[in-house]
Amino acid sequence: MIQYKISFAGAGKVAGALCLELHNKGHQVQQIVSTGEKHGRSLAEKFNAGWSNNLIFPDSTQIIIVAVPDHSLKEVLDGIKCSKRTIVAHTAGSFGLEVFPESLKNIGVFYPLLTFSKEIKTDFTGIPVFIESSDHDSESVLKSLAESMGCSVHFTDTEHRRLLHVAAVFVSNFTNYMFTAGKEVASKAGFSFEVLKPLILETVKKALELGPENSQTGPAVRYDLNTIEKHLDLLSFSPELKDVYGEITKAIIHYYKRLK
Ligand SMILES: NC(=O)c1ccc[n+]([C@@H]2O[C@H](COP(=O)([O-])OP(=O)(O)OC[C@H]3O[C@@H](n4cnc5c(N)ncnc54)[C@H](OP(=O)(O)O)[C@@H]3O)[C@@H](O)[C@H]2O)c1
Repeated sequence: MIQYKISFAGAGKVAGALCLELHNKGHQVQQIVSTGEKHGRSLAEKFNAGWSNNLIFPDSTQIIIVAVPDHSLKEVLDGIKCSKRTIVAHTAGSFGLEVFPESLKNIGVFYPLLTFSKEIKTDFTGIPVFIESSDHDSESVLKSLAESMGCSVHFTDTEHRRLLHVAAVFVSNFTNYMFTAGKEVASKAGFSFEVLKPLILETVKKALELGPENSQTGPAVRYDLNTIEKHLDLLSFSPELKDVYGEITKAIIHYYKRLK
């Protein structure tokens, strides 16, 4: 397996998870660039790498992974100074190659379709990584990088990756918001999030085994308007949760009506 010298712009959730995994797979983490010294230096120290707050990278860096907030991506890419041979790839689902400046020639997108948190160690085995690149050589380097972590590699253009990002928002961010809402409602009944965990696990298991569209239960799919009215009434303590309940209920009713 080829082992690369890799530097990062960003020292947050994605950079932290990738650094650890790439280091464990034998790649060399060379330099971390971040705005604040605290996160960048502490991440760099773990891998014996350098830290800097300017975007000048060593000529020996073969790949720069840019994992910064989307709103800073263009500014960070515009500021990068590196060797002409270095491949620069960002990790944003909603941006493509258009965000890179002309000065960077070997460019790509390296989008792992997962949710990352500093507190949880990521197992990259089987994680889909969506790659787009400016040229064949960059594409094969990014592919071999993903494969070295045991990821499944997919190639896609910006438009399709943006759609996948939307899909990710539905299955991860919205679902997580629903967990938060459920936790709040359970606490009104005097119970902790713990009591909901078996239900969450069973729901996910069934969605994966049967397909989500085949495993829906509850008052909306049964079109049980009586129970729905009672639930809306119980949610009077929170206009926001009442709205969400009403809108999602309408969406479920509409979805299953369409299938009839
Ligand atoms: N989080 C996910 O689950 C996930 C999944 C797939 C893709 N992505 C994408 O990955 C990218 C990074 O997301 P993230 O969640 O890792 O973000 P994050 O945790 O907020 O970390 C962003 C990092 O970028 C650094 N930074 C901010 N502005 C900078 C600048 N001008 N120059 C250099 N470094 C700068 C920050 O520095 P400080 O540490 O000093 O604040 C921080 O270390 C985003 O494009 C996101 O869409 C995220």
